[in-house]
Amino acid sequence: MFQNIKTVAVIGSGTMGNGICHVFAQTGFDVRMMDINQAALDKGLATIGKNIDRQVAKGVLTEDQKAEALGRIKTHTDMKTAVSGADLVIEAATENMELKLKIFRDLSSLCDSNTILASNTSSISITKIAACTLRPEKVIGMHFMNPVPVMKLVEIINGYATDAAVTELIHGLSKHLGKVPCIVNDYPGFIANRILMPMINEAIISLQEGVAGGEEIDSIMKLGMAHPMGPLQLADFIGLDTCHSILNVLYSGFGNQKYAPAALLTNMVQAGRLGAKTGEGFYKYTPGSKDLVVSERLKNMGGKV
Ligand code: CAA
Repeated sequence: MFQNIKTVAVIGSGTMGNGICHVFAQTGFDVRMMDINQAALDKGLATIGKNIDRQVAKGVLTEDQKAEALGRIKTHTDMKTAVSGADLVIEAATENMELKLKIFRDLSSLCDSNTILASNTSSISITKIAACTLRPEKVIGMHFMNPVPVMKLVEIINGYATDAAVTELIHGLSKHLGKVPCIVNDYPGFIANRILMPMINEAIISLQEGVAGGEEIDSIMKLGMAHPMGPLQLADFIGLDTCHSILNVLYSGFGNQKYAPAALLTNMVQAGRLGAKTGEGFYKYTPGSKDLVVSERLKNMGGKV
């Protein structure tokens, strides 16, 4: 029963972690936000404040509700105190297998035996994560989408050993958060990224082959398919390193060439052009501006008028 969940610890205060803290705090849960240093936690809290301000400006929340939500979030740099007494822990650390396995090994020994352990991983096997804990039946995937306060989906991933009662609880809890949960089984990329990443990769391959320019590729998908962002802009938004690592999970998991990351994507990752977070990917980003400016390096790659 999700009503038994009162205190939620979130490991990681980056884009996904702070978004997850935001929705839980806004819904009335006591939230512990944990990261390795206070500077990262302060940045996460400031982002939550700014994003709640958008809701206040639109009349979705009041200033009082903002203060209450922020008051429910406590920050921690020590994992043991962060998870002590938590009913649910959601890991939202960097998408790195070794890091996630280490976090779950630690959580397994630090958390109460009843605590449910969820991962926000976008592609790493929940079964593999669960297997390094002593409670694989209480481990589940809870995959939120960016921006978390806006996107309705929670992709719930059942590991091989996940208990049906845990799935039911996380399903009810996700609905209580105002989200729409969809339950899937644990195969590489689950559903969201098994379908999204090949589309993004194909857009990059099309750019690489000069079939069309970046703006044209994105316009075609925005105007022709009603996608809010074109695939190249979306790749920049997600982070090209994240896209690259998810494609590699698909490629190695299925052993199928069709998932191999585009050479251009690999080059851009190696060059440190990771998208919006580094200021440049397929587009160039200027703080405060919403204009889409194609990266100088990628201009003239496509068809001509
Ligand atoms: N917190 C709260 N509200 C936010 C927000 C945030 N972080 N970001 C945007 N919003 C709100 C805005 O206030 C605005 O609200 P109203 O429409 O009610 O006024 C609304 O969202 C739209 O925002 P903007 O007007 O600033 O910008 P936009 O119209 O360009 O929309 C967007 C921005 C919502 C990000 C939209 O472009 C979009 O939906 N893009 C696609 C996002 C997507 O596909 N996400 C999934 C990525 S994949 C993933 O996350 C998982 C993975 O495993 C890789």
